[in-house]
This record gives sequence, structure tokens and C-alpha cells, in this order.
Amino acid sequence: MIQNFALRGFLLLFLFAVLIPKWTGAQQPAPNLIPVPASVKSGTGSLRVDSSFSVALTGYTEPRLERGVERFLQQLWRQTALPVNLKPAKSAQATLVIHTDHANKEIQEVGEDESYVLELTTTGAKLTAPTLLGTLHGLQTFLQLVDVSPDGFAAPAVTIQDRPRFPWRGLMIDSARHFTPLEVIRRNLDGMEAVKMNVFHWHLTDNQGFRVESKKFPKLHELGSDGLYYTQEEIRDLIAYARDRGIRVMPEFEMPGHSTAFFVGYPELASAPGPYQIDRRWGVLDPAMDPTNERTYKFLDEFIGEMAGLFPDKFFHVGGDEVNGKQWDANKRIQEYMRAHGLKDNQALQAYFSKRLQPIVQKHGKSMIGWDEILDPSLPKDIAIQSWRGPESLAAAAKQGYRGLLSNGYYLDLGWSAARHYAADPLSGDAANLSPEEKQRILGGESTMWSEYVSAENIDSRIWPRNVAIAERLWSPAEVRDLAFMYARLDFISARLDWLGLTHRTYYRRMLRRIAGSTATAEEFAALVTLADQMEPVKDYTREETATVEATSLSPMNRVVDAVPLESDPGRHFGELVDKFISASCQDGNAEARLRAQLATWRDNDAKLQPLAQRSFLVKDVAVRSRDLSALGVMGLAALDAIAKRQPAPDAWKTQQLATLEQLKKGKLQLLLIPASAVQKLVDAAAAGGTCAGAK
Ligand code: ACM
Repeated sequence: MIQNFALRGFLLLFLFAVLIPKWTGAQQPAPNLIPVPASVKSGTGSLRVDSSFSVALTGYTEPRLERGVERFLQQLWRQTALPVNLKPAKSAQATLVIHTDHANKEIQEVGEDESYVLELTTTGAKLTAPTLLGTLHGLQTFLQLVDVSPDGFAAPAVTIQDRPRFPWRGLMIDSARHFTPLEVIRRNLDGMEAVKMNVFHWHLTDNQGFRVESKKFPKLHELGSDGLYYTQEEIRDLIAYARDRGIRVMPEFEMPGHSTAFFVGYPELASAPGPYQIDRRWGVLDPAMDPTNERTYKFLDEFIGEMAGLFPDKFFHVGGDEVNGKQWDANKRIQEYMRAHGLKDNQALQAYFSKRLQPIVQKHGKSMIGWDEILDPSLPKDIAIQSWRGPESLAAAAKQGYRGLLSNGYYLDLGWSAARHYAADPLSGDAANLSPEEKQRILGGESTMWSEYVSAENIDSRIWPRNVAIAERLWSPAEVRDLAFMYARLDFISARLDWLGLTHRTYYRRMLRRIAGSTATAEEFAALVTLADQMEPVKDYTREETATVEATSLSPMNRVVDAVPLESDPGRHFGELVDKFISASCQDGNAEARLRAQLATWRDNDAKLQPLAQRSFLVKDVAVRSRDLSALGVMGLAALDAIAKRQPAPDAWKTQQLATLEQLKKGKLQLLLIPASAVQKLVDAAAAGGTCAGAK
């Protein structure tokens, strides 16, 4: 983060004046497009979008393309509320003429041509693409161009040539730990389409649930799911829904670990005797399939055969992560088998399992893919790995001839900022030094939405808008990196995702309303919002580590920690305002006034919220953090007063404030108070004296 505002301003100017034209070929700032296209050339004027707007399909067409145009027009209607004509027009009259060369593969494959060219002038628009996939992407770009203008809705004149940097741009949703209702998945697929993601990785089984109907082995879903599973018909419908949007659906069935849900119905697959229950707890648990038992492979052959028929995608994910080996260690027969077969440790045993599994997957027409742990040099090069442990394993796999995906850095559940996800790049670190041929094996990446702490109610907010930063990293040229530009466009797209029915913004007040209860006054509710706005859940896996009551799949998710977004926009904005104030040598009167107003609001907020804490246990739950926010307000105001004196504040004062800040910065009740570090900058500035020299 560049703290010096003047420097940041200069860099931004530099970006717009020098760098963007390099990939846009024009002197105007790039329009609000996310992901940034490969090439944008701005023209002159704009195309009006009014109720005469119409679309014509020329060249190749098929019902899927017609449905794509219909979706486009419906979305255009949502954006403008203009009575748009849903009927296709003749090309001579149409505002937007689409020309698609040919179909894409019946079953969408990795690396198909997804490029498109979109040309807008003041009189009309033309979208051309080799395949339907490019056409669908181009339509999304068009929608992002349409905005209000002083005399109606319009899209700027522009020529865009676009194609993805990586062929695999995925989102994984874990529907095992918490079941994901189908309508939630559908709206997330809509969101993926809007930002040109093209793989939905569906994590369907884990210790906590088996979510697919199996006709061959019905006890899998009957006993392993609490009744929360997808029927095969529902799955086929969902795959068709995704296919319409240019999105592949790759299923994941976890084995040999993370597999308790298999064992509830079929305990004979496990490495220790049953009976088994669905696990309610999180983490790495002991149950694992028995890799030394032929029955296991016979079962998997039939099971994978059934699932390979249900899921058309070429890739079949077998999990493979986090086997702790305890059941293997404790089983005499397994130990005996390992000795007899020269399997020296559990890693060798897992490699043996992978080697037995791979031909089964291949026999059913699929390429096996798994998490890092499946990688073993004895496996054929047809497999692929998904790196969750670090970029090193991805580069190492590529060097050995394996294809791979990056997920390390894209774990949405860890609560990182969009900026931090944005910095992760499949071709950085060790991968940067690979040969061009090796780099080709890195297919892209996937964000992962592990669902320990997500419900149907808050899941969208855990995915969006941060997932858009990852979508851009995987689509746009590598040099598109400016954070201020990214965040500005994140705000833009976030508002538009509302129109698709995503609830990543609307859920918030709904959840806070429940927390506040029906007796909350308007002022009390506003105080709750003020507090919640400045908090985020603790990061990484700290939520587990600091839980006073262990969370399970049966725990309610109705607390403030479940309601606040994983990245607080108001918290970020306060930090930016502090940076602006300090980098102007603490002389910016306007910024100071805004800071004072905000800090005074916090100072007074606890008194407004306290009465509600007496009436709602969910508000009472965060009473400590409410006092902390007020303390932060008091401290920030004192720092501004000290700064105004233009003399270094006494050391003792600074020491005292920093000690308090250490406490305020800590996670409490699994919540972080985001502005604490910005207030610390004010304290540092106060200690540094009048001009804020030396403050960072
Ligand atoms: C994983 O996060 N264990 C894939």
C-alpha cells in the first residue's frame, strides 16, 4: 500500500496516462470494465440505449445462444427499466449485431476459444466471436458499458478485443459442510458469468455430508446427508444451467480422507470398524478409506462409473487432501499389507491409493484431478493437481509435466481482503521461472468457498465482491494490478451483481434486523449498523482457535460475526481518509473535519447501543466491541487534538495509547475492529508533531 497520497495520485495518473493506453491504445481512462479486457480502444461519442434497442443473431446460432441473448436483454432491462424488445431483430435494423462463427464443443473443454471483438459506435454495435463462449463474454462486457448519461442510457464508443489469460477460471463451493440450496448456486453461476468465470467446482462430499443422489449406492445420500442432497435430475438441470452460461461443472468426491459421509452407509469402506455417523465437527478427522482392500476399488469403480455418467465434464476431482493416517496406523491388517508391499509410510500408501484410483477414473472417460497431496511422480501425466498448500507445489508439478491450478491465495473463507487475493497470481513465485512450455501447464486457478461458516443467508457475501478480484486476476493481462482502480470497479460491479439477485449486499440489514429484534428503535438500529460496519470476522483459521464453544455444522449462524462482511468497505474508507490526511502533512482541513465527525460518532455510539444489549442476546454478545469502538473514537479525537497543537505529543501519552491499541487491535468475540490500525497512524502522527513528519 502506498501511503503517500501525492505519490499515489501520481501513480494513478501515470497508470491512466501511460499504462492503460498501452493496452487500450487510447488517451481516455478505461471504462468501468471488470475484468479489464485484453485491449480497449476508446472511440468518440456514445451509443444511445433506449427502448428501440434490439439484437440480431447472424452466423452460427443455436437455442443456447438465443437464450443467452434473452438473458442479456433481461439484464439490460434490469439495468435501465426500459421496455426492451425481447424478440430478435433483422440484422439491418438491429442496434447490436452478433456474429458467432461456430459452436463450441458439445461438452465444454478447457482451452476452447473464448475470445470476442466488440465494437461500439454512435450508430450501432457489433459483437463477433469464433465460438458461442466468446459471444457470451462479449454480451457481459456490453452490459458493463451501459450506464446513465445526461440524456439517457448510453454506452461509450469503443473497440474491445478480448480473450482470457488463463483457460480455467473457477469458483469452488463446498456444499458438504453446509448444504447449498440450488437457487443459491444458480445465482452464483449468474455472478460467475458476469465476471467471465468458467468453472464451477462442486465440492459434494466431505465428513459432514454426502450431497448427491446415488442410484447404485442409495445409502450414500440416504444415510449420509440429513436428507439434504441433490437429486440426479436436479444436478442435470444445474449442469444445463451452467452450460448455458459457458460454465463447466466439475464434481469433487473426497477420498480417501474427508470421507466419513461415505461410511455412514458403507462402513466396510473405512479403515476402522463402524458404525459411523455424519461428523458435525470441523477439521482434519481420522476416518479414511481402506486402500488395501479390494472391495474399496470395486465400490469406487461402480460409484465413479455412475457419477461419470451424471457429470459430463472431462475432469473428475477426487479430493485427496489431509489424510491424517491415524486409522491406517491403528489397523494391523493395513500395516501388514504395507510391509508386504514395501509401502514405507502413509504417504506411500496414499500414493498407492491414487495409483489404483487413476485407472478407474480414466476407464470412465475422465481425467483425474486432486489437491496437492495426490501428486506422485509415478502417476501418468494425464492427471492435474489443484494447489492449496502453496504456489511451490504448482510449479513443481508443472516442471514434472503435470497440469495444475492455483487455489492457494484464493481461499475466500479465510477472510482476506480483495487486495490480498488480487496479488496472488498463478504464474508468480516459483512459477515465474518456468519455461514457456511448463507455464502452459498452469491452467489457471479457482477461488474456494469452504462452508464451515457460511449459510444460504450469508454465502453470497462471503463470495462477492472479493471473488471478482480473483476473476480479474485470472482473465486480465498480468500487468493490470492497480489497487485503487480495482477497488473502484469492485464497487461498480458489486452494485450490478444485486441486479442478478445475488444477496451479498441485501443480506446484511436482514441479518442485523434479526440481531436487533423488533423492539429496536431507529437510533439503536443505526448504532448497531455503525458498529457492525467497522468490524470483520477474525482471519484465517482463528475463528476455530478462539471459539469459546466449538462450532459445528449444527451451530446457528445468526451472530454479528456471521453478519459482518469479510472485508469492511467503511473500514477501508476510513483508512484511506486517514492516509489522505496524513500524507497532506495533517493540514487537510476537509479530511480532518470528516475524520472528526466519524470519530465522534464512534465515541457516542456505545451509549446508543447499550440499551439494546439488554434486550437482545445477540447484541449483548458484541457489547465489549461496542465499548472498544467508542474507545477508539475517543483516542482518535485526542490524537487529532494533539496533532492540531503542532507539537509532538508526550511520550508517556503515546505509550499509553499504543498499549490500549494493542488490546483494541486483537480479535475479540471473533471480531476485528478494522479502524484500529488507522487510529494508530493518527497516534503516531500526533507523537511525531505538528507536520506529521515521520508518520507512516
Ligand atoms: C484443503 O483446503 N484441504 C483442500
